[in-house]
Amino acid sequence: MKIFNTSKLVKSEDLNHHGTLFAGRLAEWFIEGAFITAAGIFGDPSGLVCKKLHGLAFNAPVKKGAIINLETKLVLVGTTSIKVYGKVTKVNGTESLVDGFVTFVCVDENGKKKAHGLLQPKAQNEEDKRLIEIAKKLR
Ligand SMILES: CC(C)(COP(=O)(O)OP(=O)(O)OC[C@H]1O[C@@H](n2cnc3c(N)ncnc32)[C@H](O)[C@@H]1OP(=O)(O)O)[C@@H](O)C(=O)NCCC(=O)NCCS
Repeated sequence: MKIFNTSKLVKSEDLNHHGTLFAGRLAEWFIEGAFITAAGIFGDPSGLVCKKLHGLAFNAPVKKGAIINLETKLVLVGTTSIKVYGKVTKVNGTESLVDGFVTFVCVDENGKKKAHGLLQPKAQNEEDKRLIEIAKKLR
């Protein structure tokens, strides 16, 4: 499975009233990173829409000045849907600060769903297999 990475610097304008990274800002970065992954593989950004953001879990606060990395990969394809997994860590860190899935649906020029024709990517390790099984159960 191809891995995409995006890094972000957490700045003053990204903070909430506790002085830590605002969940809404992170959700925006998360969906954008997942979209870039899905569109990069599908090939046409205008042909994909976001259907659902699945259960983002914020596991630890992120402080101002932190540089975070969002790792994303396409884990499951259906007929019209594409599911992308994302995980946020500190750059060079391994602790999962936030993780979750996003489902995108392929649409035609009228916004109606259509088959995307993508093939299911092969799991390369046990973690990929675990994510595929989780993605299959998401609604
Ligand atoms: C996306 C949209 C075209 C889907 O049309 P729809 O007729 O509701 O589609 P369906 O319910 O049949 O589902 C389409 C696919 O999404 C999947 N899906 C639907 N609801 C889901 C959910 N809650 N979780 C995961 N997958 C879901 C279905 O399983 C199906 O996948 P498959 O074809 O691979 O089996 C329509 O819901 C829409 O236009 N939504 C608004 C999109 C939008 O504006 N997004 C924000 C801006 S990008």
